[in-house]
Amino acid sequence: MKKKLNIGVVGCGFMGRTHSNAFLQAPRFFDLPLEPVLARICSRNRERAEKFAANWGYQGIETDWRKLVESRDIDVIDIASPNDTHAEIAIAAAKAGKPVLCEKPLGRNAGESESIVKAAEEAGVPTMVWYNYRRVPAVTMAKQIVDEGKLGRIFHYRTVFLQDWTISADLPQGGDALWRLDVNVAGSGVTGDLLAHNIDTAMWLNGPIDEVVAMTETFIKTRKHNLTGKQEPVGIDDASAFLARFRNGSLATFEATRYARGHKALYTLEINGERASIAWDLHDLHRLEYFDHRDEGRLRGWRSIHVTDSDHPYMNHWWVPGLQIGYEHTFVHQAADFISALGENRKASPDFAEALNTDYVTSAVLESAKSRSWVKVKARTGTASA
Ligand SMILES: NC(=O)c1ccc[n+]([C@@H]2O[C@H](COP(=O)([O-])OP(=O)(O)OC[C@H]3O[C@@H](n4cnc5c(N)ncnc54)[C@H](O)[C@@H]3O)[C@@H](O)[C@H]2O)c1
Repeated sequence: MKKKLNIGVVGCGFMGRTHSNAFLQAPRFFDLPLEPVLARICSRNRERAEKFAANWGYQGIETDWRKLVESRDIDVIDIASPNDTHAEIAIAAAKAGKPVLCEKPLGRNAGESESIVKAAEEAGVPTMVWYNYRRVPAVTMAKQIVDEGKLGRIFHYRTVFLQDWTISADLPQGGDALWRLDVNVAGSGVTGDLLAHNIDTAMWLNGPIDEVVAMTETFIKTRKHNLTGKQEPVGIDDASAFLARFRNGSLATFEATRYARGHKALYTLEINGERASIAWDLHDLHRLEYFDHRDEGRLRGWRSIHVTDSDHPYMNHWWVPGLQIGYEHTFVHQAADFISALGENRKASPDFAEALNTDYVTSAVLESAKSRSWVKVKARTGTASA
């Protein structure tokens, strides 16, 4: 029998659901060295926690994350609560000697993330941040193609993350569902919420970013705050766009907004190299577009690869060739990778230190937007994200 891995999850919202599903499905589709157990779900609201526990099959509930962290029978702490809770919980979990998984962004700003990394490194505990888009099979395949050198020298990286859900000026800020609009809870707007994903994927695929120049805008300047009932200034960036120089000499454009009418979650990326280009679109997530200039001239063109065959990343764990998977599977892959790494004493990726590099970029973006000038990105490791 496999050793059990008792998981305590904090937060039973959107990410609480994706993580619970991931821990349930991972051992059914992957041969893991440890058996994940949904041991406890933690929410401040008892009724919500009980309902969530019953639905997902948790063995018990907790209403205070401190009790969860202190529980001797909990092996791993998984943080799926809003950004302002990450540092306190992650640091306490690390000090308690427990492996910690944390949702992105790691902290509300790079300073907060640094303190999380410090605590985790001092405690020597395994960590991982849920930058799940790396585990879309088509994106993982993009990484293989880049690493194999098929693109040749890379000239351009182009990426956007577009949404349209905050256009109404009547939308309040703060509280349960709308904490993302409250700067004190979120830390920043689309820069930390959406662009953090684009930046993590970009540095994973194309190496470190050295400098950025950015512009941000807050289109709706005040909104009613759900907790105070008062009209209050909006402190988050509604839209953020920046130019970047990668260490490998390539140039990049990044854009995110919640004001692109008609777009719900349009995350796209394109890389143009000397020999070939690749492009990917979250709305068609199982496809990788590939153009190879070395193809015979008459037949040359963009191919749309349906990333569902058994020799494609992760796909031999699922159905039969040609049948695609979706968004939730990216979390299943990440849970499986984490548990495998933990059982085999390997580092899971991205760990907290890697995720801090993303926060250094988002911090530089916000600083540049303020100063209206190029800003050098602080690099902790000085190397590409693994
Ligand atoms: N990886 C991704 O693609 C992705 C997508 C969405 C959100 N996120 C991240 O996940 C985190 C959670 O976001 P969400 O969309 O699930 O939010 P959500 O609002 O849907 O859920 C948050 C949950 O945390 C609970 N919570 C808040 N404070 C708590 C506390 N002190 N103790 C226990 N529970 C507490 C809330 O009651 C709620 O159940 C954020 O950091 C966010 O940035 C990541």
